[in-house]
Formats: sequence, C-alpha cells, structure tokens
Amino acid sequence: MIATTDPTQAPDVPNAASAPDVSGTANAPIALEIRDLHKSYGALPVLKGVSLTAYDGDVISILGSSGSGKSTLLRCINLLEKPTQGTILIGNDELRLKVDKSGEMQAADIKQLEKLRASVGFVFQSFNLWPHKTILQNIIEGPTQVLKIKKDQAISEAEVLLRKVGLIDKKDAYPANLSGGQRQRVAIARALAMKPRVLLFDEPTSALDPELVNEVLAVMRELAEEGRTMLIVTHEMRFARDVSSKVVFLHQGVIEEIGTPEQVFDNPTSQRVKDFMASHRN
Ligand SMILES: Nc1ncnc2c1ncn2[C@@H]1O[C@H](COP(=O)(O)OP(=O)(O)O)[C@@H](O)[C@H]1O
Ligand SMILES: [Mg+2]
Repeated sequence: MIATTDPTQAPDVPNAASAPDVSGTANAPIALEIRDLHKSYGALPVLKGVSLTAYDGDVISILGSSGSGKSTLLRCINLLEKPTQGTILIGNDELRLKVDKSGEMQAADIKQLEKLRASVGFVFQSFNLWPHKTILQNIIEGPTQVLKIKKDQAISEAEVLLRKVGLIDKKDAYPANLSGGQRQRVAIARALAMKPRVLLFDEPTSALDPELVNEVLAVMRELAEEGRTMLIVTHEMRFARDVSSKVVFLHQGVIEEIGTPEQVFDNPTSQRVKDFMASHRN
C-alpha cells in the first residue's frame, strides 16, 4: 500500500521492499538506545536499571504484569516522566540530562528535548486528540507548529496518512463523532505525521471495545511490515508474537527475559514468564 514515494516515510526507515527481514535488524543503525534507566516515585523504585536497544526496523513488544513498570519505561524515553538515572539516545544523539534538586533528571537543553520528542511518536491508550479540532486539524497541528511545515504540504501529507489508516472520509469530522477504533487510528496518523524515527505505543487497544481492536492492530501490523521502528506495550499476545522482532518481559522494573518471539513465548527460561504465558494463552 505504501510506495517509496510516500512523502511521510521517514528517510531512515527501510521500507518493506528493501528490508523485509526483521531478524536482520541487528545490522541496521541504532534507532533508540536506553542504558541503565532508573526511575523512582519518591521512595518507590519502579525501574531498576533497564537497558534496551532498538535498531531501525525493530518491533519490540514489552510484556509484563500490571505495575511492572511498562508505562513508566515508555514515558521516561521522552521525559513524560523524569528518570532518576540513565542514558537515552535517539540514533547517535544522546539526550543531555541534568539532575534537579529533587534528584530527578531534567533535559539540560530544551531545544534538544523538543527535537527528541518530535522524533519519538507516542500513541496512548486514551487517544488524547484535541476535541475541538477536526481530524485533519488534529493531524496537521504538530507538523505545522513544531516542524514548521507549510500548511498546504501538511494537509496533503495528512491526507496520505488518513488514506493509509482508512479514514480519509472522516477528515472534517470531530473526534467525538468517531468510534474508539477510529480515534486510535487518527492518533496513529497524527504520530506518523511527525515522521518519527521511533513509535511508542502504550496499550493502544486496551481502552477499545473488543470488536474494534483488530482494526487498530491491522494498522500497526502494516507499520511493522513496512519497517517502522516500534516499541509496543500490549496484552495482545498473538499480535506481539506475529509482528515482533524482539519481545521483552518486564518484572518489577527489570528485564526478566528478552529474546525472539519464539524464545520468549515458546521457550522462556524464567518460571515467571512461563506462568505469565500459560495464563495469557489466546
Ligand atoms: N505518577 C506516579 N506516582 C507514583 N507511583 C506511580 C506513578 N505512576 C506509576 N506509579 C507506580 O509505578 C509502578 C509501575 O507503574 P506503571 O509503569 O504504570 O506499570 P505498568 O504500565 O507496567 O502497569 C506501579 O507500582 C505504579 O503504582
Ligand atoms: Mg501501563
């Protein structure tokens, strides 16, 4: 569906034609690297030294029980939460951090943080669309305001994305008139409009009625197939198994197990992961 002429395709992202083999991503450039990330809420340690590398084209699913730190991990990547220790790199660009009085890390350079946030797309469980803006306006907001793309160009790119997620006929509607599945597809289009190097998804289908889950997973599957780099927190086990190049199991703020889907789903070494998989068969 996506041709190499797609104007919204990030320049570094290999497309399906040139990089069909996700297992080969270890030879690709690093898109995102997290080193020894720690986060505490007050006295409560939530992340206790997480290191993870996503190469261009990697699709990394993050599994784990509720409270294991999955959302915190994603949110620390673009400083929606402030880590207490650690290093974050987008490509070769290390985010410069300084420790504030409360012991949390702040961006040392706001311009650099803005650049990082533009290159890391975030799709939340709860969509977070502007209710008073149309679907098209929601999508062009970031490109025109942050990337300073001309409005005409932003609109034509947004229309390409709306076709891609199957919602071009809704471009002048408001979020309230869309179903949850449609809203989440808009949220994905909005994230893509920023041409991010990496996309982060935090349980993107958990707030949806069951019959709407598949339309969102289908869009995400297509993104995975075209070589987008994605970190996905999900409870959709079959989806995670099908699309992931790597699967991470997080437990109490540390990576308990990491490997290919075959390793983590079929042959986990940890008893905890075995138990989790047994209780999540679908
Ligand atoms: N803003 C916050 N303040 C205090 N504790 C928090 C906050 N956000 C999350 N936590 C705690 O951090 C832990 C990990 O939460 P979270 O990252 O949301 O886990 P998950 O996404 O895996 O369910 C939980 O114990 C949670 O209660
Ligand atoms: Mg969560």
